[in-house]
Amino acid sequence: MIYVKSPDEIKKMKRSNEIVAEILLEMEKAVRPGVSTAELDRIAEEIIRKRGAKPAFLGYRGYPATLCTSVNEQIVHGIPSEDVILEEGDIVGIDVGTELEGWFGDAARTYPVGTISDEDKKLLEITERSLNKAIDKMVAGNRVSDIGHTVQTIAESNGFSVVRDYTGHGIGRQMHEAPQVLNYGKPGHGPKLQPGIVLAIEPMVNAGGCETEVLEDDWTVVTADGKNSAHFEHTIAVTDNGPLILSKL
Ligand code: MF3
Ligand code: CO
Repeated sequence: MIYVKSPDEIKKMKRSNEIVAEILLEMEKAVRPGVSTAELDRIAEEIIRKRGAKPAFLGYRGYPATLCTSVNEQIVHGIPSEDVILEEGDIVGIDVGTELEGWFGDAARTYPVGTISDEDKKLLEITERSLNKAIDKMVAGNRVSDIGHTVQTIAESNGFSVVRDYTGHGIGRQMHEAPQVLNYGKPGHGPKLQPGIVLAIEPMVNAGGCETEVLEDDWTVVTADGKNSAHFEHTIAVTDNGPLILSKL
């Protein structure tokens, strides 16, 4: 069952998502060689509390932090730690969720730490492009699978692979609502998009193969082949005037 949001509800979701956007902007400055991922987590939690919101991931199925910080071959759900110190040449995916007045926000970006390799630059660029092109499909009349098809086409035509084991999702009064938003598949399938549908689209793109593994901590998802992975996410509403990215200032 897909919950279609009213224009007023979309405004409320925008306020929650704007906190997410503010954090991802702040992370541009905070991500540098020598910083721990625990420090990034503290910065994010402080902004969320200051805005009167709650960290949506903290306590979700027992998750212990505000952010997910996924370094290099980590795909998603990396747990912030004092012991993880970012180094020049790393890439770090930062994913953050908020709850404000009962409405959820969710977005992610992968950041370069200092100077990174040309291959990693391309991985970040293509993953972000796959998200942006998928967002262009958030138009009334299109189908949900048009989103995943777009992500897959862009990632694979550039020699990368898309993760199958984790997906995007509907979002609203809950962080995860129907429908699932796959990052692959044939176009023209699944529910029809209409104004008021809000989705979190989140391509996870691997430099190598698409296979994943979960570490001992039961959270951190890594690539099976150890090659790097990138993750970008936005929360977007379908409106009468096309896609509206809620997690953007
Ligand atoms: N953006 C991710 C998702 O939609 C973040 C979830 S992390 C968790 O699933 F800790 F909350 F599980
Ligand atoms: Co999400």
